[in-house]
This record gives sequence, C-alpha cells and structure tokens, in this order.
Amino acid sequence: TNTENKSMFNYWSYFAKGVGYTLLITAISVVIGIILGTVFALGRLSRKAILHYPAVWYIEFVRGTPLMIQVMFVYFGVGLLWNNIPAFFAGVVAVALNSAAYVAEYIRGGIDSVPVGQVEAARSLGMSQRDTMQTIVLPQAIKIIWPSLGNEFISLIKESSIVSIIGVTDLIYQLRAVQAATYRGVAPIAVAMVLYFIMTFTLSRILNHAERKMQHG
Ligand code: ARG
Repeated sequence: TNTENKSMFNYWSYFAKGVGYTLLITAISVVIGIILGTVFALGRLSRKAILHYPAVWYIEFVRGTPLMIQVMFVYFGVGLLWNNIPAFFAGVVAVALNSAAYVAEYIRGGIDSVPVGQVEAARSLGMSQRDTMQTIVLPQAIKIIWPSLGNEFISLIKESSIVSIIGVTDLIYQLRAVQAATYRGVAPIAVAMVLYFIMTFTLSRILNHAERKMQHG
C-alpha cells in the first residue's frame, strides 16, 4: 500500500457512512423510546396493579442490565426465532427498548415534580382527573421533562456505539474498517472521536437554543 491511501481523508466515505448509521439508529431509537417510555411511565404511575407492576419490573430490569447484553440478547435471542435478523434491526430494537426505560423515569420524575397540592386544589374545585392532568400537571411537567429528553438523545449518540458488536455499520464499526484498511491504529480512533464530539456538541447547542425559546414562549 502506498502512503497516500493511509490518509484519513481517503476514507471519508467510511466515516460519513458511520456517522449516518449512528445518527439514524439514535434518531429512530429516541422516537420509539419516547413513545414507549410514555407508556411505561403512565403504567408505573397507574394505581392498577396489572399496569403498575409490569412497568416497574420492565424499567428496573432494563436499567439494571447492561445495554451491551441487551443488544446481544435481541440479536441472538430473537435470531433463534427469526433467522438472519438484520443486525441493524436488532440494534435499533435493543437501543429503543433500553431508552424507553430511561425515558419512562424522566417522565415520571417530571410528573412527580408537580406539587400534589396543585392537584388537590384543582380536584377540590371540581376539575376532573383528566382535566387536572392536561391543564395543570402536564404543562409544568413538560418543562422539566424536555431537557432530559434532549440529554437522552445526546446519550444515545454515544451509547448506540455498542451496536457495533453485532456488526451494525455505525461509526465504531467503520473506524475498525479504516484501521484494517490503513494499518493505522490511532488516527481512525481520533477521527471517530472528533466526529462523535461534533455530533453531541452540535445537538446540545441546538437543544439549548430550543430550550431557551421554550422557556420564554
Ligand atoms: N452504558 C450504560 C448501560 O449499558 C447506560 C445505558 C444508557 N441508556 C440510556 N438509554 N440512556 O447500561
């Protein structure tokens, strides 16, 4: 191999593909995570035992086991029933299901942060449970929940890197491909590291901006 091909610039398409997959997995997972997380949060807040306990167990179990093993479990476990399950699909499912448990706790925390006195006051004025939730609790809870959802998005950009172990062609996977092609150990790592930082830093700037707008709006 000639030295020219060892420049990281010659491998920009590998990194671009990796960034693309990392962002795609993260974006899909965060959307599914928020939807499912809302369901689990409401389940956990429910006074009905058949809704409450399964939600609690799910949240505790998922948060109490490594994302890495969950990714392996979905890929190889579901793979027993569904041969040749695409790694990308398994990765998204695992990361989304993992995120749902974390999001559920952010949502529950936001709802719990609204003082009970406000709910009692609204209820004693004759407001229904549903109206109290919609007009008193949720508008305040959302202000608390929103920044956590942004942080979850940023976390998933980094945490989703674990799907590279099942062969999803994310940024980590691509950096290994560039290492193999160039025989260079550190340079591809450094490039990928900077790319991760650009993704998280940009996203955090965008989210801070949106948050400021929301607090004033
Ligand atoms: N790396 C940790 C784990 O494996 C944290 C996962 C974080 N997940 C999340 N959705 N924020 O358990």
